[in-house]
Amino acid sequence: MNMHTSGVRSGKLGFSTRMRWIRIFPGHREQSRVVRAFVACLLADHQAADDAVSVVAELVANALCHTRSGLPGGAFIVEVRRWRTGVAVSVSDQGALREPAAGDAEELAEGGRGLRTVEALASRWGWAGDASGRTVIAVFEQP
Ligand SMILES: Nc1ncnc2c1ncn2[C@@H]1O[C@H](COP(=O)(O)OP(=O)(O)O)[C@@H](O)[C@H]1O
Ligand SMILES: [Mg+2]
Repeated sequence: MNMHTSGVRSGKLGFSTRMRWIRIFPGHREQSRVVRAFVACLLADHQAADDAVSVVAELVANALCHTRSGLPGGAFIVEVRRWRTGVAVSVSDQGALREPAAGDAEELAEGGRGLRTVEALASRWGWAGDASGRTVIAVFEQP
């Protein structure tokens, strides 16, 4: 038996458990379906798949609705990362004057549920960047 075979048999493939995929999408509403399929495929065997797909859909909706990514010719980037104990999904947009902020109870009465949903489903979330472009990231740690 060679080392490769024994590695597979013992469940240790011998390469890193860290993986990363990045894809750019045109800033059109109908791309939301494609993004969901992209993330669902990459996380098909992962317990956080459903939550990560719901969250990425909220982040894409925000990129399209609130940032320049949703303007004609706009685009956004989706990144999926996996490691032994968790998953992260992030959406990078082309910027806006306002910042991502989960609404408080009053604002919830008039919409603003998206980032609250993200907050509820993800282990943690956050963003980086400025008015010329931001990345919003959500992390799902394995319990
Ligand atoms: N990627 C983003 N860039 C800039 N501002 C954002 C972004 N995502 C969300 N926001 C801001 O945060 C607010 C709250 O977002 P969200 O909870 O999804 O509610 P909604 O999209 O219904 O307004 C938005 O109204 C918007 O002002
Ligand atoms: Mg929203």
